[in-house]
Amino acid sequence: MKGVILAGGMGSRLMPLTKVTNKHLLPIYDKPMIYYPLQTLMQADIKDILIISGPHHAGDFLHLLGSGKDFARPNGKRIKLTYEIQDEAGGIAHALGLARDFIDDDDCTVILGDNIFEDDFGATIQNFKKGAAIFYKEVSDPARFGVAEIDKAGKVLSIEEKPQQPKSNYAVTGLYVYDHKVFEIIKDLKPSGRGELEITDVNNAYIQAGQMQAHEVEGYWSDAGTFESLYKASSLVRNKN
Ligand code: DAU
Repeated sequence: MKGVILAGGMGSRLMPLTKVTNKHLLPIYDKPMIYYPLQTLMQADIKDILIISGPHHAGDFLHLLGSGKDFARPNGKRIKLTYEIQDEAGGIAHALGLARDFIDDDDCTVILGDNIFEDDFGATIQNFKKGAAIFYKEVSDPARFGVAEIDKAGKVLSIEEKPQQPKSNYAVTGLYVYDHKVFEIIKDLKPSGRGELEITDVNNAYIQAGQMQAHEVEGYWSDAGTFESLYKASSLVRNKN
């Protein structure tokens, strides 16, 4: 199992905070945002992690995180960091497509660089066999997210990206586990109405193939891509400390 943190995109909803830096370097309470997704992957004992960012502040990630020698997994062993550039913000699935050579034939856990989780997903990630897994959370404002329709048995039937009339209150969070077939799916994707390759289209392909598992997130979760969610994420972390 390898890990990927997606930290590209423009961060335009956080202007002017993102005028001279990358969103994922902004503070969430006492640490840079990217420390949190990194922690989620390290907790799951993932050693090899690729960080994908845009071209403008890529050097700052290297200054901050380096080779990974200062970050330890629960077993005390270090992680190894690799860096990749996404030249244009072509969408989450486009960014993930750049990880193909790095992942090779392995499975991958992918996390959005602005997603802050309380839970330890180590057992679920390490027990992953094939297909894909998503992690969902009940929210009061589902229209902001990918929204999962889930039956009584916990099976996910479909996902809609930012629907005007959400079929449930279950937001699909920015943590995904895929087998290496994900890159074949990405290769065939077409841009959405907003001109991006959508991760929701990737997930729906796995659902249609009957190869998607869904897990409910128990602890807190927040994204941090808007002023409100950035503030909320900091408060959640602060209140836990
Ligand atoms: O936070 C969970 C949500 O994230 C999901 O529920 C949605 O299904 C998913 O599409 C995504 O929605 P957002 O509108 O919040 O995505 P956003 O464009 O803000 O991008 C989230 C992160 O993905 C961002 O922090 C960095 C990474 N990203 C995004 C784009 C568009 C990239 O690395 N490259 C990109 O081109």
